[in-house]
Amino acid sequence: MDLELKDKVALVTGGGRGVGRGVCLRLAAEGAKLVVNDFHARRAERVAAEVREQGGQAIAVEADITDLAAVRAMVARATEELGPIDILVNNAGIPARREGEEVKGGWEDFHTSEPESWQRMIDLNMYGTMNCTHAVLQGMVERRGGKIISVMSEAGRVGEAKLAAYSGAKAGMLGFSKAIAREVGKHCINVNVVALGAVDAKEVPFEQLSESAQQRTKKMFKSYPIGRGLQRLSRASDVADAIAFLASGRAQYITGQVLGLSGGFAMP
Ligand SMILES: NC(=O)c1ccc[n+]([C@@H]2O[C@H](COP(=O)([O-])OP(=O)(O)OC[C@H]3O[C@@H](n4cnc5c(N)ncnc54)[C@H](O)[C@@H]3O)[C@@H](O)[C@H]2O)c1
Repeated sequence: MDLELKDKVALVTGGGRGVGRGVCLRLAAEGAKLVVNDFHARRAERVAAEVREQGGQAIAVEADITDLAAVRAMVARATEELGPIDILVNNAGIPARREGEEVKGGWEDFHTSEPESWQRMIDLNMYGTMNCTHAVLQGMVERRGGKIISVMSEAGRVGEAKLAAYSGAKAGMLGFSKAIAREVGKHCINVNVVALGAVDAKEVPFEQLSESAQQRTKKMFKSYPIGRGLQRLSRASDVADAIAFLASGRAQYITGQVLGLSGGFAMP
């Protein structure tokens, strides 16, 4: 099946690692030209290099997507170097931290949490998504075409205890995306959302993880009732396949939808 992605320009936020990396590699394998964004320059550069090694075209752009001016500068540079953005994947959703930075928050009861941690979730998932969408949408309207896919979590649909701000911010992405889908349908722009369950996107095998990372991973496996579904966690490639389809010419009549990618964890 031809996905008609050849030479399309795709911007993936948080593309330097995990799910975003998988999406970059998959879109590039289909012939898209990649703008690999990340808060951490080294991560973005590494993935852009991987794309080039597999014969594709990619640039790395370091930008904090919560900063609208930085996002506009990123889109301007990408447009100059690769062409106008055809596909935006709003993937970054777990706040990055600078090296050595201590960050409060994480998995915690809302009543004992600090506003600082809510702010980081809202800033990244809501403002990050809004900033990037705003920066590419005018061009898409003028060219009468484009695909916007945002990555939410099933937490935003079914709620996740100890992740209240995250769940709320992800739900906000969904409402925002549906509204934009209604606004720009007349301009032939498709706006959709994928809702992930737990993803095992590690680049290193389990045995090579640090002890604390192993503990975290074990806890995640335990906390997800994956036995109800497909009996495994998602892989980045599962998400990448779905996003490649939604970004493709094969999904022209799909808009304002949320596609659950949780292997049966949530069936809302
Ligand atoms: N991993 C999971 O189990 C899981 C489950 C449900 C949903 N999701 C969603 O999938 C998406 C990707 O998750 P992941 O696990 O691959 O995350 P990750 O933390 O492994 O990678 C995300 C990348 O985003 C970058 N990033 C963070 N803040 C940024 C910012 N302000 N500007 C630019 N880049 C920034 C980080 O530097 C990092 O490289 C997120 O939206 C997340 O909420 C993940």
